[in-house]
Amino acid sequence: YVIGADLGTSSVKLMLVDQNGTVVHEVSRPYPLYQTSGGYSEQDPDDWVKETIAGLSELVTGFSGSPQDIEGMSFSGQMHGLVLLDEKHEPLRPAILWNDTRTTAECREIDEKAGKERLLEITKNPALEGFTLPKILWVKKHEPEIFSRAVTFLLPKDYVRLKLTEKLHMEYSDAAGTLLLDISQKAWSEELCRVFELPEGFCPPLVEPGDETGRITSRATEETGLPASLKVFAGGADNACGAIGAGILEDGKTLVSIGTSGVVLSYEKDHNKDFDGSVHYFNHGAPGAWYTMGVTLAAGHSLSWFKNVFAKGEDFGSLLENVDQVPPGANGLLFTPYINGERTPHADAQIRGSFIGMDASHRREDFVRAILEGITYSLNESAAIFRENGKTIDTIVSIGGGAKNDVWLQMQADIFGAKIVKLASEQGPGMGAAMLAAVGCGWYETLSACADTFVEVDKEYLPDPLNQEVYDEHFRLYQDVYAKTRELSE
Ligand code: XUL
Repeated sequence: YVIGADLGTSSVKLMLVDQNGTVVHEVSRPYPLYQTSGGYSEQDPDDWVKETIAGLSELVTGFSGSPQDIEGMSFSGQMHGLVLLDEKHEPLRPAILWNDTRTTAECREIDEKAGKERLLEITKNPALEGFTLPKILWVKKHEPEIFSRAVTFLLPKDYVRLKLTEKLHMEYSDAAGTLLLDISQKAWSEELCRVFELPEGFCPPLVEPGDETGRITSRATEETGLPASLKVFAGGADNACGAIGAGILEDGKTLVSIGTSGVVLSYEKDHNKDFDGSVHYFNHGAPGAWYTMGVTLAAGHSLSWFKNVFAKGEDFGSLLENVDQVPPGANGLLFTPYINGERTPHADAQIRGSFIGMDASHRREDFVRAILEGITYSLNESAAIFRENGKTIDTIVSIGGGAKNDVWLQMQADIFGAKIVKLASEQGPGMGAAMLAAVGCGWYETLSACADTFVEVDKEYLPDPLNQEVYDEHFRLYQDVYAKTRELSE
């Protein structure tokens, strides 16, 4: 068996997977998210460690086989979060997360000091609030005393791995989201470290996502019940792992993953592309590969926001119950999901969302349908950029919350104008992490060979031309809303 650990924003999900790719046992443990005003979003890194250890112990106890048969473990994790460490490798402050938007001033500082063009050349991405470097500069400016004690930094899942193994590493797919990595050369940018006056040796040693990074400590062995022989592999960013777990491992493959955030992601074999920074370009979890990605910050989050405010106590099932009764176009109601600002294609932390076209006849299900459509339009704006740059997108694998509802899957086919594939057992980023461990343990030669066994198609959804006509028109209106509502949030 191998373990895939997915360190998400709301919980850690741990899965035990056998050699056929079947999940034999699964555990999930939540931890708090601290979102105060001012766009702050933080977590306590030690909550991640505490819950991962407790979850691993639950996983081992609740499984009927022998712990000695668990051969390997790897990680997937929320990207970009800054974990600043002191010389004892203890966190100096709470982690500042990917969806924290306090760093607009630092982004402008990065543009000025590094030069926008040069930054794009090195990191293939523009300075965005969510990325790690602006967070480092924020602490440097606002908490100089804390920063003076910082010797290095890690990303969330790398910190958990450090605490389990006492080995400090960062791997390429997550390092790609720091804005300090030379993406095509796969090395820390000495130039950027110099420009931003980062302490000597501040950037941690880099490894490949599939590299073995050490064994768990005897303390972790005792606390979890895992065997000392367990091999620990570096793992990858959640989006890279989501792509691995969905078999996005060759040119022409595209993924849509709708969780708290939503992403549309396409495999790339070219190491030197940048889309002018309008969408992200990161190192994949598979060796010698990259991916293009668009991000909607509040995808599933828009739906959970609506549920918490207007349907408290209900579950998503009951919230989505009557959306099939509402026709495409939500009876003229249009939603833009910018409730936490937006990432791509509008890099704008200040923009806010909207419902447009409200009518006295609208019922709750019209609002819910409009939210599903708005999230999908937002992802389609990024997909349109991929297409404008020459990418062919005719088939998309859909995973996450967005793949749990038939109406939404058909909507994705109609809005993206592509065949949507739903997987038989969709286990998201945790499965990608388990696959990295499976290959690391020698079960398979390559991730693609592993995907041939682990990834199975359940159902396909084809675009319906009549629906497409309605959505195309609404999508054009949707695209106008950003520019027209921008002034309201300035
Ligand atoms: C990607 C991003 C999010 C997080 C969510 O750039 O910020 O998708 O990785 O965990």
